[in-house]
Amino acid sequence: MTTVWVWLIIGVPLLALVVLLLYWQLIIAEGTYLGPRIVVLLYDWSARIYERIKQFDVGDEQWFLGLPMTMALSQVVEPLVLDVATGTGRLPRALLRQPAFDGQVIGVDLSRRMLREAVRMTAQFADRVTYIWQDARRLPFDDDTFDAVTCLEALEFTPNPQEVLAELVRVLRPGGVLLVTNRIGRDARLLPGRAFPRDRFADILRSLPLESVKVQAWQVDYDLGWAVKTGTPRGGSVRPLAEILRCPACKGHLDETDLHRPAFLCPRCGYTYPVAEDGVIEMAKPRPYRRSNGEKA
Ligand SMILES: C[S@@+](CC[C@H](N)C(=O)[O-])C[C@H]1O[C@@H](n2cnc3c(N)ncnc32)[C@H](O)[C@@H]1O
Repeated sequence: MTTVWVWLIIGVPLLALVVLLLYWQLIIAEGTYLGPRIVVLLYDWSARIYERIKQFDVGDEQWFLGLPMTMALSQVVEPLVLDVATGTGRLPRALLRQPAFDGQVIGVDLSRRMLREAVRMTAQFADRVTYIWQDARRLPFDDDTFDAVTCLEALEFTPNPQEVLAELVRVLRPGGVLLVTNRIGRDARLLPGRAFPRDRFADILRSLPLESVKVQAWQVDYDLGWAVKTGTPRGGSVRPLAEILRCPACKGHLDETDLHRPAFLCPRCGYTYPVAEDGVIEMAKPRPYRRSNGEKA
């Protein structure tokens, strides 16, 4: 009888606490405090049902994302856009569906299965979108490359959102457009260090080399932040991949090769980054280059 009471008084509240903790860490925070491996594992698991869960409205996506971004880039000939943490290719779709958008989009994500879905969901635009499997914290591009850089509903799932923001701005060219989201609403209070009050988020953007910062209400859970990179506008527009890609390991230029299958090779550090059968460039797990006799280069 005593054991039953001990269970009721200690065991039940303890169990409830564990369930609440798991709910917070895995459902609300989506693994963000447990590290990128857990975040990616959760997205890999849910990749096939992500679109069903989100139920994106095509009209809203055009109105709030595709159209304003196309207008912001209207002065640029063939704009080159980078979408970081692209997921299932939501931003590429919103942009490529705009008849006035004549550029190309590169989508980066650390969940390989989300990228597989992205390839499928944007198949009709396959010649204008490229996907890269890579961490947002080490973007494989030179400084000042893109006409626009976007990152939607993802900063809060990275270990240090401010570090990722700085990385997004690094690869944006002066005069280029930044579009990012900040988590708001009830759950944002349960994401300390990952989501910010609206004014604080605007201050964080202003602390970077950005101007014309605007933070606007968007969804129940997210604000949209728009900004322009400071400096004399230069660079930009669509260019061959080998011209803009950099080795994530040593930042060296990459050569396009076709040894056993298409890949990018870093002549400086000897890593290769294969292009998978679905077209995704796999940079998250570099492989040392091996000669045909199996020796390392
Ligand atoms: C909520 S989804 C958002 C996807 C898409 N931007 C959208 O709005 O539908 C978050 C995405 O962030 C990606 N992600 C999380 N941490 C990442 C990291 N460190 N680097 C790259 N992608 C990451 C996840 O794999 C997932 O696809």
